[in-house]
Amino acid sequence: MSETSSSSGPVPFRNPGWAGNTGAFDLSEEQVRGDDYVGVRPADGGHASGAATYPYMKVEKSPEAPLFEGPYRERFDKILSRYPESRAALLPALNLAQELRGHISPETMREVAVLLDLPEAYVRGVTSFYTMYNKRPVGRFLIQVCTNISCNLCGGDEVLASFLKHTGTELGSTSADGDFTVTEVECLAACGTPTAVQINSRYYENVTPDSVPAILERLRKKGE
Ligand code: FES
Repeated sequence: MSETSSSSGPVPFRNPGWAGNTGAFDLSEEQVRGDDYVGVRPADGGHASGAATYPYMKVEKSPEAPLFEGPYRERFDKILSRYPESRAALLPALNLAQELRGHISPETMREVAVLLDLPEAYVRGVTSFYTMYNKRPVGRFLIQVCTNISCNLCGGDEVLASFLKHTGTELGSTSADGDFTVTEVECLAACGTPTAVQINSRYYENVTPDSVPAILERLRKKGE
């Protein structure tokens, strides 16, 4: 791990990027990111980013899961410990709730507001501002296709159409088997490898319409 220097001597570089192994808790990255966090390059195409993309999403979501118990309570407490006031912890708390439940329902907003002692309207306003928070249930695999400029020039619309065709869905709807929800998103910051697609927490790059069936088949068979 790299280090930076200061006038008082070397200072350990401590930016774990997750509410991890600093402070009162001693959690591994795996514990913090989730029990099926994948931080390695996937076997068949796609690139796992250095950190889980935002927000993290499990394959098996539990819309009725309690907020927060067990390891999730530990992670929530850790998040709280990193900020001077509870309001500042709202985004990571919502991330955690979405990771657990798959979407942020009005009831989840209310529960998060109670947990952070914030007005419910404030939580609702923040949640509705960010498109990354799913306001409706999504399938096991949330497929987000970038159709912004770089990807659009390289066939993003055709990739989107291919995902819709091969999942038998319409934009934003979930397939009958509950496996797939396909949405269109703005730039995923992978403009150099268009078309970029984010499926749950994983990036797939250089996706073409012809590569879509193989991606879906792999998801059906192996999960992510
Ligand atoms: S335009 Fe698609 S990733 Fe940037």
